[in-house]
Amino acid sequence: MRSSRLVGVGVGPGDPDLVTIKAARVLADADVVLVPATESRAARDGQDARPGRAEEVVSAVAPGARIVRIPFSMADAAGVTPRRREAWDASAQAASDAFRAGAGLVAFATIGDPSVYSTFSYLAAAVRAVHPDVEVAVVPGITAMQALAAASGTPLVEGDEILALVPLKTGVSRLAEVAAVADTVAVYKPGRHCSALKEYAETVGTDAVVGVNVGTPEQRIVPLSEVESLPYFATVLFPADRGPTGGRL
Ligand SMILES: C[S@@+](CC[C@H](N)C(=O)[O-])C[C@H]1O[C@@H](n2cnc3c(N)ncnc32)[C@H](O)[C@@H]1O
Repeated sequence: MRSSRLVGVGVGPGDPDLVTIKAARVLADADVVLVPATESRAARDGQDARPGRAEEVVSAVAPGARIVRIPFSMADAAGVTPRRREAWDASAQAASDAFRAGAGLVAFATIGDPSVYSTFSYLAAAVRAVHPDVEVAVVPGITAMQALAAASGTPLVEGDEILALVPLKTGVSRLAEVAAVADTVAVYKPGRHCSALKEYAETVGTDAVVGVNVGTPEQRIVPLSEVESLPYFATVLFPADRGPTGGRL
């Protein structure tokens, strides 16, 4: 019997040139490529969802791929909302349908890396519950944090420095706790907490580097002190406090 594989594929921050050769090969070989698609008002009204960033990258590196869009809520509220649960169920259903229809390889393309704040682990668990024989694998991708470090010339960590990654879903209090023990702090999902983040930076007397749409033609790299608002695709890097050696590239 043909074996079935579900592969979470990291497609990097948005630049097709930052997709690994292995990722491009899996996407091209897959019978079906599931992609999160931005949920728009149109989608909620029953029309097709808009292509999301992962889909744009997949189309660029694997032009013939059979893409299936999965609705995905950008309203990144904390916790498991009913809408989010629906999106996970839709992904699992699409993967299940593909395996039932005889697919040997189903890929799930995710921005950045599938092991970093991606829904791939939920999808894999849901699919395994229905198809226990499906083999699950991950192809790593370049994270937004790494892409921002490169684009801004900010080394993430040197020597024995500690790196932390903080998702800013519910406010800046955990950021302060983490920053007390880490040297460099990267912040994901800062969108709804821009003013609190700026206040925090002022209080601790440091500026941070913001990367918006890193790795895309709309990329912007700016100091936190100069931004008024932050979109969903923004990452903030508080670099380690370094001496005259190291520091900036
Ligand atoms: C659900 S997490 C996904 C992280 C992704 N799996 C990774 O490995 O980077 C979404 C967050 O990643 C960050 N992000 C993803 N792509 C980005 C980009 N191109 N530019 C800036 N930030 C990005 C933002 O902080 C965004 O809110």
